[in-house]
Amino acid sequence: MKVIGINGSPRKNGNTAAMIGSILDDLSNNGIDGEIFQLGGNLVRGCSGCNWCKDNQVGRCVFSDDCINECIEKMASADAVIIGSPTYFSTLTTETKALIDRGGRICRSQGLLRRKVGAAVTPVRRAGSMNVFQSINNFFLIQEMIVPGSSYWNMSLAAAPGDYEKDEEGVKTMKTLAENISWLMGKLN
Ligand SMILES: Cc1cc2nc3c(=O)[nH]c(=O)nc-3n(C[C@H](O)[C@H](O)[C@H](O)COP(=O)(O)O)c2cc1C
Repeated sequence: MKVIGINGSPRKNGNTAAMIGSILDDLSNNGIDGEIFQLGGNLVRGCSGCNWCKDNQVGRCVFSDDCINECIEKMASADAVIIGSPTYFSTLTTETKALIDRGGRICRSQGLLRRKVGAAVTPVRRAGSMNVFQSINNFFLIQEMIVPGSSYWNMSLAAAPGDYEKDEEGVKTMKTLAENISWLMGKLN
């Protein structure tokens, strides 16, 4: 069983990466392999609405000059997908939104993520994280993915890199989330 963790933050070693990393560490202790895909910080295009993906049904976007097709392939070949985005002006980072718009259409038309496990995580300095959490979960649910919960919504109160580790409740929430992902993957396997 394999999990892909997508870091939608341009900070490679920031709070989103740390949250995803702590989940992957716990899953690894349960024998589940994990990999981080660094999405944030790449130049990405948004969806052009050209319908090429719908007309061709080949599991990829017509634009192959950025990392979105690679990210879609990684999601399609994993058993569980974690998408993390920091809260930016109460919404997703640009890179995460590009993945959702372009990957969402491609994956949905071919059922590429159907019945895989999906988990959204977001760090936030103060406010707006629920919108990020819900936006990613909306993506998972329309893909017919199965979304486990945790002891709190999957966020941490964190501003500067390193803050996540100081947020006791955030760390506990990621731990419980990892337990529930692991349990669910075992049931679905
Ligand atoms: C452009 C930008 C917009 C942000 N918008 C918000 C916001 O709306 N609400 C908030 O509480 N924090 C906001 N933050 C703070 C980040 O969510 C916070 O620093 C987070 O921990 C960053 O995660 P990272 O270390 O993975 O990049 C913003 C930060 C940036 C750079």
